[in-house]
Amino acid sequence: MTSLFEEITGDADSSVPVRRVTITVNGQPRTADVEPRLLLAHLLRQGLRLTGTHTGCDTTNCGACTVLLDGAPVKSCTVLAVQADGHDVTTVEGLGTPGELDPIQEGFKQEHGLQCGFCTPGMMLTTKALLEENPDPTEDEVRWALGGNLCRCTGYQNIVKSVLWAAAKRRGEVPPAEGSTS
Ligand code: FES
Ligand code: FES
Repeated sequence: MTSLFEEITGDADSSVPVRRVTITVNGQPRTADVEPRLLLAHLLRQGLRLTGTHTGCDTTNCGACTVLLDGAPVKSCTVLAVQADGHDVTTVEGLGTPGELDPIQEGFKQEHGLQCGFCTPGMMLTTKALLEENPDPTEDEVRWALGGNLCRCTGYQNIVKSVLWAAAKRRGEVPPAEGSTS
């Protein structure tokens, strides 16, 4: 059996057992044969072509690879694909569509919460987990929640504004005016 690890890396090792995993990704069950060492980030990007999940460091520092695992934010560069077997994964591709943006995506657009955009998928998924748990966070709570997500463009001010905008929109309130502080 050809494993996904072998397909991605070209590193075939017939002594490594292959395991079949089924993961519900953005609401769709996806099955793959993987080696136990395959990272969830690699399964998502190379295996399932969901390239909105970025990898910036591979060492759990930057948060660019953040996805939701059963609703909780995890850094997919330090989760094995086999650990996600039988679980639900949400990537940025599952947040909204170009025609119907999620309020979080709208917030990042309205408040200019991105520059190069590399950190943005991870920022938005961490935001989703925050707002599910705390629909009306303070600015400090937003900053604390995003503490594991680094922005190399250092646009943190607007990222925080974007999250507060999205929170207000999700609550059905008029979001803060563009460019305002909390
Ligand atoms: S790539 Fe996973 S935390 Fe940086
Ligand atoms: S917008 Fe460039 S890394 Fe955050």
